Amino acid sequence: MNRKVTVVGGAGNVGATVARSIAEKGLADVVIIDIAAQKAAGVALDIYETCPIIGSDSRVIGGDSWEAAAGSDVVVITSGKPRKPGMSRDDLVKDNFAIMQSIAPNLVKYTPNAIVVPVANPLDAMCQALYKLTGFPRERVIGMAGVLDSARMSTFVAMELGVSVQNINSFVLGGHGDTMVPLPRLSTVSGIPLTELLSADRIQAIGERTANGGAEITKLVGTSAWYAPGQAAAEMVEAILKDKKKVLPCSVFLQGEYGIDGLFVGVPVKLGASGVEQIIQVKLTAEEDAALKKSAGAVKELVDVIGC
Ligand code: LAC
Repeated sequence: MNRKVTVVGGAGNVGATVARSIAEKGLADVVIIDIAAQKAAGVALDIYETCPIIGSDSRVIGGDSWEAAAGSDVVVITSGKPRKPGMSRDDLVKDNFAIMQSIAPNLVKYTPNAIVVPVANPLDAMCQALYKLTGFPRERVIGMAGVLDSARMSTFVAMELGVSVQNINSFVLGGHGDTMVPLPRLSTVSGIPLTELLSADRIQAIGERTANGGAEITKLVGTSAWYAPGQAAAEMVEAILKDKKKVLPCSVFLQGEYGIDGLFVGVPVKLGASGVEQIIQVKLTAEEDAALKKSAGAVKELVDVIGC
């Protein structure tokens, strides 16, 4: 096992879920870094102790020293304050920006060649912060949001139609916030567009539930979701480590694509060994384009707050 994935903030719920999923799939050795050093060591050991049971050769260690992260192929950033009930993702911007400011120099020093997968909220603004603070090329800063939002949409479609989630391919574009853009026209059930299978009302309800998917869990559980966000980040890590060329919706720095310049926004990309290998541009209807621009506008407001 010579691949290495570091999960920063890995003693928390989302980070531990990412670490566990990577170890479960035997994708790489995993380093958990957290300011809560002792908890990081404990979570790592607990995950390591699952490996004999599942037959994984991943080695899992944890602590607060960045030296262990040196040579990582991928670094997943899950550090940050989670949401409390009633909070929006955007309420976290200043606190979590300060945390990104403390992490960025370590990325530059210890993992200068890694692909970085930010997960902290507000996601797109935190991606922009890490991109600007590290100076890493845009191919190597890839935010996790669309995989989660699409999975939520697929879950709701499966519930509505009573079909297997495996038949469903959902597409959600835009920022990871209330203005995200579920695209029913390009979401399918075994290749059949959703618009052929559900009424406009039901589609709208599914879109709204998707956009509120994080708040729904936060209200039920009392803190941010972690199973689906962690699994979504692990899916991106797997696509990168295995050079899968998988097309996934991710938050990436757009430079004119979709008519958006200088901003992280969720769009379909091809993920492989070098990170973002292609940004896939889809022709949008005027209505879809307006919704995407509105979502980008919401990201821009946050980016302006932190001056990135
Ligand atoms: C959510 C948080 C992680 O959507 O943004 O659940």
